[in-house]
Amino acid sequence: MNIASLILAAGKGTRMKSKLPKVLHKVGGKAMVERVLETVQSIGTNRDVVIVGFGGDAVQNYLGDRAEFVRQEEQNGTGHAVKMAQPVLGDYDGTILLLCGDTPLVTKESLEALLEEHKNSGAAATILTAHMPNPTGYGRIIRNEEGSVVRIVEQKDGKPEELAVQEVNTGMYAFDSQKLWPCLDQLSDDNAQGELYITDVVGILVNGGDKVSAYMTKDFEESLGVNSRLQLAEAEAILKHRKNVELMTAGVTIIDPANTYVAPEVTVGADTILHPGTILEGNTVIGERCEIGPHTRLTNVKVGNDTIIHFTYGHDCEVKDGVDVGPYVHLRPNTVLGNKVHVGNFVEVKNSNVGEGTKFPHLSYIGDSDVGSGVNIGCGTITVNYDGKVKHRTTIGDGAFVGCNSNLVAPVTVGNYSYVGAGSTITKNVPDKALAVGRSKQIVKENWVTDDTFKKK
Ligand code: UD1
Ligand code: CA
Repeated sequence: MNIASLILAAGKGTRMKSKLPKVLHKVGGKAMVERVLETVQSIGTNRDVVIVGFGGDAVQNYLGDRAEFVRQEEQNGTGHAVKMAQPVLGDYDGTILLLCGDTPLVTKESLEALLEEHKNSGAAATILTAHMPNPTGYGRIIRNEEGSVVRIVEQKDGKPEELAVQEVNTGMYAFDSQKLWPCLDQLSDDNAQGELYITDVVGILVNGGDKVSAYMTKDFEESLGVNSRLQLAEAEAILKHRKNVELMTAGVTIIDPANTYVAPEVTVGADTILHPGTILEGNTVIGERCEIGPHTRLTNVKVGNDTIIHFTYGHDCEVKDGVDVGPYVHLRPNTVLGNKVHVGNFVEVKNSNVGEGTKFPHLSYIGDSDVGSGVNIGCGTITVNYDGKVKHRTTIGDGAFVGCNSNLVAPVTVGNYSYVGAGSTITKNVPDKALAVGRSKQIVKENWVTDDTFKKK
């Protein structure tokens, strides 16, 4: 089937009370319109057109070359928005999958079922509907005595008996392209909102003798349209619950699902335990048998197997197998912690490669460094990577032992199996297997305290 998607995203979203266009508000860490676009693209559309208007540049910049864009300068309703796409999709030979940019929860499965129904029924249009326990705000699906769809009535235009209908329009439809365009010329703004409604196309088609079919989603929650901050939080909660269920079904333990936040794209291996306060975002990948949290936020972090990370914030970095991190650790971009590394409390690691079995047990800053394997970094060690203008690298060889409270002033190399005495400020390279001590000599003044010193007190 030839399918082109058309996503309406020009509205201001007045009810959001925001300067940001509504469709750029994020759910599960991604803009709502991006979620809709990615879902339709997963079906295999061959064109994707997004209608932008309010904050159009921002929406276009956000999506980049992932879609084609058409401007709707004045937002005169969803029917008017669709009309704007006629110059680019008017000749399209196939099915137009029409969606709104504010329904981020819709699944690939439901859209595929909608398209399947559309193909099998031979209808001119097929509506994705949902049974909503509380349908307030949505368009209602009006059927005749035989049960066929005859039109859609908007909340603001509905008579009480129409508003009692609980089958709602999700705002998603499959249209036979050649049937859609002629109907748009017949839309009128003679309604409560003074707008051109795309929903009126249904009545126009039926009155013209065409068939309109419907497919009802199994789960009404996925058709939630986000019009307010309250609905944004509802959408977030639904996505979160969906992900938790998916993970637990696949063998992940979640101690407290209400306090665990895993973005839809994240993957977690079996027998991993997620403790309360765990937030896994972006393209984070967690292996098997790990323990994450409590109170840990990982954004775009790749974690191997059998690793423990607690009370930590990590972003854009990699932690391999059997590693133990935390508490109170900051792992910053371009850090790779090798197998069995130990990073203890109050440590920051940035843009560094750390070899197998190396230990940073407490209170260190390791930045722009290449650290070998089996290295022991004493408490309070700092790689002095910045001279005020440029960042420099520090290299620490395999098996090196750096004493507590040392400053390694980069660019500098500490050789393999070498020792740095505690409290040293190292400004010159330390050869392999050497001992370097860079601190002032201790002076001892015997009997410096006299009896008089005490008497004065
Ligand atoms: C719309 C439907 C309603 C359905 C609901 C599902 C109409 C008239 N009503 O109502 O039947 O139940 O969605 O969520 O279609 N937009 C534009 N240009 C405009 C107006 C809107 O691009 O001129 C975009 C908005 O950015 C939004 C989408 O169209 O993404 C829907 O608009 P919205 O105002 O949210 O419609 P609803 O009142 O929710
Ligand atoms: Ca809406």
